Parts: sequence; C-alpha cells; structure tokens
Amino acid sequence: MKRLVVANWKMNPVSSQEADRLFVETERSAGGNIEVVVCPPFVFLEKAKMILEEVKVGAQNCSFINEGSLTGEISPRMLKNLGVDYVIIGHSERRNNFNENDKVINEKVKIALENKLSVILCVGESEEERNSGNTNDVIKRQLKEGLEGVKEEIIIAYEPVWAIGSGKACDPDEAEKTRLMIEEMINSRIIYGGSVDPLNVIEYVKKTSFSGFLVGGASLDSEKFGSILRSLRI
Ligand code: PGA
Repeated sequence: MKRLVVANWKMNPVSSQEADRLFVETERSAGGNIEVVVCPPFVFLEKAKMILEEVKVGAQNCSFINEGSLTGEISPRMLKNLGVDYVIIGHSERRNNFNENDKVINEKVKIALENKLSVILCVGESEEERNSGNTNDVIKRQLKEGLEGVKEEIIIAYEPVWAIGSGKACDPDEAEKTRLMIEEMINSRIIYGGSVDPLNVIEYVKKTSFSGFLVGGASLDSEKFGSILRSLRI
C-alpha cells in the first residue's frame, strides 16, 4: 500500500494568493508511490479542489451533524459535496482549545464515515501524561471511546502532543512501541505526526513501520515538504 503523507496547514496561510502558490508547489512535489493529502483551512478547500490533481484534499475538522442551526460549523456532507476525500478528527489542538472530548469525537468519526470521508483520527498523550507513565492508557481510552461502534476502516495518526510544533519529534524507537500497541488494538493504517522534518523522517523510515506521516509546520515550506516526499520515495 502507498505511504500516506498528510499536510496539515492548520490556520495558515492568511491569504488566498499564498494558498494558491502552496497548492501549486505541493502538487509539483507529489507523485510516485505516495498518497499526498493537503488539509488547508476550510476557506481554501474549493480552490484546492480546482488546483490539485495528483494531491488529495482533506479538511481539518467537521461538525457532528450534517445540517442545521450550528453557527460557524462545517458539515461533513458539505465537505463530501465539495469533493473532499479526507477529514482529520480529534487533533489535539481541537481537543485542547475547543474542549472536544472523546464522545464528540466519536460522533464526528461516525458521521464523517457515513458521508464516505476517509477519517484520520488523531490520538496522543500530553507531556504530563507521558512523564507519569500513562501514555498507553491515554491512547487506549482515546481509541476505545473515539471508535465506539465504528466498524469501518480508518487511519490513526499517533501524535504525541508534546512533539507537535515543538521541533522535538518523538524518538522513533519510543514511537514504534506506541505504534505496536495501537496495532494490537486496531487493524488500520497508523501514521506518525509531531515535528516531522526532512531529517527525522529518514530515521523514522529506518526504525519504524508507520504507514506515513502527518506534517504540520514543514508542510508550509515547499522545500522541506518536497524533501520529505523525496526521502519517502527512495
Ligand atoms: P507539526 O504539526 O509537524 O508542526 O509538529 C503536526 C500536527 O499537529 O499535525
């Protein structure tokens, strides 16, 4: 199966012109035996669908219902109707800043799957949880509750919260242990996210069996993102 590389642009860039440029550059660096997915902010999704061909389009979040009176929300059906293929659910920035708990995440996973979106469910422990030896328990809970009643295939992104945006990726050996634990619980593709860059991705390929990567900061820099993709093609 192809490796999966997901670019999570988060709340960047701030102009449509910059987004266009990034779409074009990302499209240029894609290809080969890698499935590349770009998850731009919602306002650029339609543009993404117009510009990207080889690269698939994903959303960074979706609502837990398909339609109704929910000011400011974006429904999974809207995403599907726009031609979006993937959706990230349960990113730690949503869990922590918008109080998304495992129950609401579970509702989002289910409705996204009903709409035939490919779900990327993020799980991962905080620094405190890691330091107190609770990594496995936290991830087991996130998976059990987040996937309650879910039978369809999904993608799991293991993202240690302390490694996100910190420039300190998790040591590959440590991440591989967690990957194995997740693999024992669920039969799905498991990708790694958290400060992935052109250098550490090579170590990850050598020392782990992750099916791909979720890339934040480095996906906004075409040089770095292109270099990550090139390393994975070798
Ligand atoms: P990062 O973000 O690569 O900037 O650490 C990863 C993510 O949050 O998805």
